[in-house]
Amino acid sequence: MRPQLSDSANLARVAAAVVSGGVENGSVALSIDDIERLLASGAARAVDDPRSGAAMPFTHLDHALQTASVLRAQFPEDPELAVAGLVHDIGHLLVGVGDAEHAEAGAAAVRVALGERVAGLVGLHVAAKRYLVARQVTYGVTLAADSVASLELQGGPMSPDEQDAYEQLPHARDALSLRRADEGGKVDGLVVGGLSDWMALVRRISVTLD
Ligand SMILES: [Fe+2]
Ligand SMILES: [Fe+2]
Repeated sequence: MRPQLSDSANLARVAAAVVSGGVENGSVALSIDDIERLLASGAARAVDDPRSGAAMPFTHLDHALQTASVLRAQFPEDPELAVAGLVHDIGHLLVGVGDAEHAEAGAAAVRVALGERVAGLVGLHVAAKRYLVARQVTYGVTLAADSVASLELQGGPMSPDEQDAYEQLPHARDALSLRRADEGGKVDGLVVGGLSDWMALVRRISVTLD
């Protein structure tokens, strides 16, 4: 049975479990309600430049909603991809999870609630940036300041061998779409609807897994 987590103390417990590998072991996972609360908490937190600590001109919730909206507009036939965009940085909202591991931590935390594909896309979004920077000269210049700063911490552009390995991974191509939308989801002041507008879709995707 899926663990139920109902308050901030329990969310902190989830964070600790993520860091210790508990989520990967299947012992704890975010419920849909936990995911909604975590994303909502992002309204009060600006995205930070990981190197300078400077606040970017958008919050974590702004970024989640904008990324999801870009994907919904570009791929209306693929609501799972948009939901992956909505939750792709949820690892940043887990206590004790650093930039270098936020993709894997986020993937582990949403896998039970949202399924293997959404989790896979979340887990690959940093690798997809490293791939795109290595393969497309023009992609690097589109990166926002926080992405440029985190790139170095995340391993920099992929080597040719790493690129070959990336291309063999499940969901690799869709993760590139998510990653491009990620950079498009960092617009100061752009309002694209609220979290509640997305939660029915999130719940629908979750139900289809049962
Ligand atoms: Fe990220
Ligand atoms: Fe992001």
